[in-house]
Amino acid sequence: MKVGVEALELTYGEHRAVKNLDLTIPDGSSVVLLGQSGCGKTSTMRCIAGLESPSGGRITIGERTVYDGASGTSIPSHKRNVGMVFQSYAVWPHMTVLDNVAFPLKMKGVGRAEARRKAIDVLEVVGLGHLGERGASMLSGGQMQRVALARSMAMEPAVLLLDEPLSNLDARLRDELRVELRRIQLDRGLTSLYVTHDQQEALALADRIAIMQGGRITQLGTPEEIYAAPASASIASFLGVTNVFEVDSLDGNRAVLADQGGQLLVDEAEAGIPGTRFACIRPEHVRVTPATGEGAATATNRMRGTVEVAVFQGASIRCTVRTGTGLAIEAICPPPVTGTLATGSEVSLEVDARAVRLLPEDVTELQQAQEVVAV
Ligand SMILES: Nc1ncnc2c1ncn2[C@@H]1O[C@H](COP(=O)(O)OP(=O)(O)OP(=O)(O)O)[C@@H](O)[C@H]1O
Ligand SMILES: [Mg+2]
Repeated sequence: MKVGVEALELTYGEHRAVKNLDLTIPDGSSVVLLGQSGCGKTSTMRCIAGLESPSGGRITIGERTVYDGASGTSIPSHKRNVGMVFQSYAVWPHMTVLDNVAFPLKMKGVGRAEARRKAIDVLEVVGLGHLGERGASMLSGGQMQRVALARSMAMEPAVLLLDEPLSNLDARLRDELRVELRRIQLDRGLTSLYVTHDQQEALALADRIAIMQGGRITQLGTPEEIYAAPASASIASFLGVTNVFEVDSLDGNRAVLADQGGQLLVDEAEAGIPGTRFACIRPEHVRVTPATGEGAATATNRMRGTVEVAVFQGASIRCTVRTGTGLAIEAICPPPVTGTLATGSEVSLEVDARAVRLLPEDVTELQQAQEVVAV
């Protein structure tokens, strides 16, 4: 069921944890709230679940208004038909896996046989069909997390809210469950809001990602859009763009970097955007080759530098190169076929002008309002 959040405000004492937040989760789709620790993700989710008293705004689930600051409407949490899965997997250790899932259904008044049938069905969906009779305390962390998920799904909530449900798991299990969750989400057409500070998780699970900073949503888009075109330098940085350089001025399609950092050739279209302050380059867009002759192509930045740090990652090498102008540029590149990218070696760098994005430091309120209207 569609969820609508309009002008939501939440304050804890003096602190505005959620500021004038607008968000729509279309029916059957998955929105991921992605942002740094403390930006207000859990607070937003708790408002939707009815576990917090907002200080203003409106929340609708389907056609029903569950919260409206203006009229004083506030439907209690248990009547909102939302399911929540938290970071800590809360299973009842003294019950079997099956009973863990069936018990809340029985509490809701579903008959014994029907509750059992439903529980078996969702346990199958989360890949635990064979463990129904096992005691819940005899499960791995990942299996417990699936029980918690199955329990929420069995209640057939209109909306599923998941707050960092995978963060307690080891890396491999997290990867596996991430794919599993996406499959369940798509198969069942669940309407879900998923909270995380992990960009890989967000990219994998979202139909739409909402970037949250300081209590506001500062960018909304598909994973591809957000990854390819972050709206500000602070968002780019958060998404792992390590090359963020302050721009002093623009000279045609050359960005003059601050602190004598040299110049970067940028795309004509980028150069035309007014008010931009930072040049951002994804490390995987920097080509590093053991230093050879020059021979610059026209729309490419070419620089010489020395490798300061190089970390071998198997399929790739992550290195920091100090250029002649003193710029530290980070690159992720395939290991060279010949030569070496070891610490101290001389290399040449290439960055296509189109890979240099000029972005403001932060998304302003005005920009944010325009983007939300545009969406
Ligand atoms: N009960 C509370 N009382 C006072 N302040 C709170 C309370 N809960 C959260 N806050 C503050 O509100 C802000 C947002 O908190 P919230 O838990 O929503 O962050 P988050 O984005 O979920 O972070 P994390 O990724 O660390 O879970 C933080 O600055 C936090 O310190
Ligand atoms: Mg949180």
